[in-house]
Amino acid sequence: MSGEVLEHEGLADLVRQRPGFLMLYKFAIEELMTKLRILSEEFDLAHRHDPIEHITSRVKRPEAIEVKARRRGLAPDLAAIAEGLDDVAGVRVVCPFVSDVYSVAEMLTRQDDVELLRRKDYIATPKDNGYRSLHLIVRIPVFLSDRVERVKVEVQLRTIAMDFWATLEHKLFYKYESQVPTDFATELANAAGLAAHLDSRMEDLHQRLRGPVDEWGDPANPAVLGQGG
Ligand code: GTP
Ligand code: MG
Repeated sequence: MSGEVLEHEGLADLVRQRPGFLMLYKFAIEELMTKLRILSEEFDLAHRHDPIEHITSRVKRPEAIEVKARRRGLAPDLAAIAEGLDDVAGVRVVCPFVSDVYSVAEMLTRQDDVELLRRKDYIATPKDNGYRSLHLIVRIPVFLSDRVERVKVEVQLRTIAMDFWATLEHKLFYKYESQVPTDFATELANAAGLAAHLDSRMEDLHQRLRGPVDEWGDPANPAVLGQGG
């Protein structure tokens, strides 16, 4: 046990000493951000609706990489991190409506150079605490001066309501060191239910305003737009 801890000590330093390692993840994020911005702008032009509210991203800090590598029991080297950690690069896509979450995920993952490694649908099946989001682990190529690296990125897609809940829950409880009191956990799960309810009401309004759409998401009957739902 103490041997394992010792082995991992300095892993954060190792990451810092190899600037090319985290740079790859930064590049992968930039590639993905460009893809998402293109989808946002072009979809808006084509369908008069922007499916992305905002996007944030982060590269995991070396200290956090060390902690997680230790927790996961990974070998203390960079190859093991690249293989064993899916969230060194993270992109969070916040969408107006639930339907946007799924269409952005679909538009992204059907791109030829985006390889989908894993998909966790916490919207269809929320976590026990109420957490909802769609998580994708994708791998995308980063073209360097002398080679191509395929880099993993964790993409979290969620609505504004899901993001509101998750952000506040994170501040309150996520990775809470000790046990969360039961009544707090129940309140929080109830609040997640309210957020889900709000999402479905807003989705309903959104669909009514758009009216029936064809397979491209365009109004099947453009006159509906003028009727105010
Ligand atoms: P981690 O070890 O936390 O990364 O979990 P995991 O590898 O099992 O993956 P999972 O898809 O469950 O979660 C990945 C990420 O989603 C987390 O690092 C958080 O950013 C987010 N997340 C997952 N569960 C929760 C939650 O209950 N609350 C909040 N606020 N965020 C969560
Ligand atoms: Mg994580």
